[in-house]
Amino acid sequence: MEISLENNMYLELVKNAQSVNDLEQVRVKLLGKKGEISNLLRSLGRMEAKERQIKSPQYNNLKQSLEEAIKEKKEILLNKEIEGRMDAEWLDISQDPREMNSGLIHPVSRVTEEIISIFSDLGFSVAEGPQIESDWYNFDSLNIPPDHPARQEFDTFYIDPGDESIRENVSPNVLRTHTSPVQVRFMEKHGAPCKIIAPGRVYRSDYDLTHTPMFHQIEGLAIGEDISMSNLKWVLVEFCKAFFELDSIDLRFRASHFPFTEPSAEVDIRCSWVENSLVVGKGDDWMEILGSGMVHPNVLEAAKVDSKKFQGFAFGMGIDRLAMLKYGMPDLRSFFDNDIRWLKHYGFAAEKSSNLYDKLSG
Ligand code: PHE
Repeated sequence: MEISLENNMYLELVKNAQSVNDLEQVRVKLLGKKGEISNLLRSLGRMEAKERQIKSPQYNNLKQSLEEAIKEKKEILLNKEIEGRMDAEWLDISQDPREMNSGLIHPVSRVTEEIISIFSDLGFSVAEGPQIESDWYNFDSLNIPPDHPARQEFDTFYIDPGDESIRENVSPNVLRTHTSPVQVRFMEKHGAPCKIIAPGRVYRSDYDLTHTPMFHQIEGLAIGEDISMSNLKWVLVEFCKAFFELDSIDLRFRASHFPFTEPSAEVDIRCSWVENSLVVGKGDDWMEILGSGMVHPNVLEAAKVDSKKFQGFAFGMGIDRLAMLKYGMPDLRSFFDNDIRWLKHYGFAAEKSSNLYDKLSG
């Protein structure tokens, strides 16, 4: 076979390879162990010396030029593949993240954060308790015995213990109706004196514009040897000024009754309606925001605290109610509808912390 180096079909094969893979197949076909060029080189051994003298340099030159051509082509194909990937896997890292859809903080989370930062500043620490609570902590320990009428007022969700035989011997578990059980749990574990708040979910069977079956409360408890009602008043006034971001605020302490406090007071805040929205701080209306009082000695004793030595105040307020007041949200039910339009309207950007928080921690 005559081989012309300029125009040979082998070089043509190399030139036409479309991918690194193609090219590798051509290389095996020509230069592999059983490849065509290798066969040619092997055939030299079977030739007459004279013929071999002519063919040997030709075949070796052919082999060498093919090797070079393959190497060159491989580089070209590799570059092409990298360029292709760069085009396909393009990512614009200069895109402004603020233009993308980002999550927002729910007003309840935001307001809880605000309340915690104000009370931390006043020296309170945060405690928690379970949402599924025993009858004892939710009622009995708080001076509400089984036949007490207050049990009916709470619209309690009871948890079915299952089997009839179990039901008769076991006192029922409930979804806690308020955060007050955390008072007893905390004092039982840590004793007195103490100064805590306890935010969390509570449950009552109720549903209208201002009530949902699940809502949020924050409990406050301060126990010491000489803590009085006037300390309670000061703490609540300072809290409301900081929370509503007002220099002065009017609170009305209205005598009330809770089994777990004596005396008890409900607290209203001065406000007024302006064009269908509630303005806090001025006007002739009053809005109830919390229940409070001096912790009943029976509650201290139930939590194994000496009621002859210690006394103090407690309060419980609705977080959702405070959020509605501060940010002008008219319907509590929409808080828990998970409607993205509502969340976009009332939610808070995650990267901006509350300016209240900045003020207190700055
Ligand atoms: N636990 C009461 C409620 O849910 C509020 C409260 C707490 C009242 C602490 C007095 C003291 O209505």
